[in-house]
Amino acid sequence: MRISDLKTNFPTPDGIVRAVDTIDLSIRDTETFGLIGETGCGKTVLGLTIMRLLHPAATMEGEIIYKGKNLLEASEAEMRTIRGREIAIILQNPTTSLNPVMRVGEQIAEAIRLHQGLNKKDAAAKAVEMLDAVRIPSPSQRANEYPHEFSGGMKQRVMIAMGLACNPSFIIADEPTKGLDVTIKAQIVELMKEMTERKAMLLITHDLSVARELCDRIALMYAGELVEYAPLKGIFESPLHPYTRGFLGSLPERGLVPIPGMSPSLIDFPDGCRFHPRCEHATEVCRREHPELVEFNAGHFVRCHHARS
Ligand SMILES: Nc1ncnc2c1ncn2[C@@H]1O[C@H](COP(=O)(O)OP(=O)(O)OP(=O)(O)O)[C@@H](O)[C@H]1O
Ligand code: SF4
Ligand SMILES: [Mg+2]
Repeated sequence: MRISDLKTNFPTPDGIVRAVDTIDLSIRDTETFGLIGETGCGKTVLGLTIMRLLHPAATMEGEIIYKGKNLLEASEAEMRTIRGREIAIILQNPTTSLNPVMRVGEQIAEAIRLHQGLNKKDAAAKAVEMLDAVRIPSPSQRANEYPHEFSGGMKQRVMIAMGLACNPSFIIADEPTKGLDVTIKAQIVELMKEMTERKAMLLITHDLSVARELCDRIALMYAGELVEYAPLKGIFESPLHPYTRGFLGSLPERGLVPIPGMSPSLIDFPDGCRFHPRCEHATEVCRREHPELVEFNAGHFVRCHHARS
């Protein structure tokens, strides 16, 4: 998938929210690409833009080329054939994404029928097969239960089963481990690792420990734009951007030091570098000029006037 010059805006009474602001990015066939950033920086909007599942008032510009086709120009009918089968999303919150009054097996079967056109019986059998694949014990019995009978970790497994049911080649996973305790999180990470091995995945997360387990490359997003991206090792061992360093410093093993200040409003960005009000290295040029994303080392991109290794 090649994303170029992508912008997603939401017109609101207070002004235009520039949630995704000129993103350029390529994700390779079998890689897991992590997207990390503070709350509200535009991660979910980027995922939903790829799926074309945004509020109708949203405007999109640029290109998302997937298997030679620009998804931003695809009709709704074309997108329906792509969603689930080619590109699937594992959503942020299983509690709100699962229908509480529908049996779990039926929900998975419905997703399968929608995307694959299987008959009811085959879809039900496939749903049980998927529950088994994500290691839900006694899957045929569990398929007849309702979401409230499942624990948080099991619900997350159901979301994964639903996302992978139609064997998509590209997965967007939005905070797949959010709210899970450490042991369950480790199990979900293992499961995702195994199940997405030969697929491309955009993994959206706040959790650097999860990103470290799963990702080949990582991007840091700040105020709608990418500020750094590199192979995993480059981000963890030689981060270049002050925001990335700040984010790493907030890891438990590095002392849980939060980045001071708040992210800016996506309606009214600061002049110059968007991070400058929070950056201890900011100089005059940072307040005046918006830095470009440049390749600092091979494959290691950064948006900072004073990037240093
Ligand atoms: N339909 C909408 N109308 C207006 N603004 C929106 C809409 N959807 C999202 N936004 C805004 O876009 C911005 C980015 O939101 P997004 O959900 O992508 O953040 P995020 O990075 O996923 O955060 P989190 O980590 O909390 O999930 C936010 O400021 C949000 O308020
Ligand atoms: S451009 Fe300046 S303000 Fe922005 S991150 Fe780099 S040093 Fe800090
Ligand atoms: Mg989000």
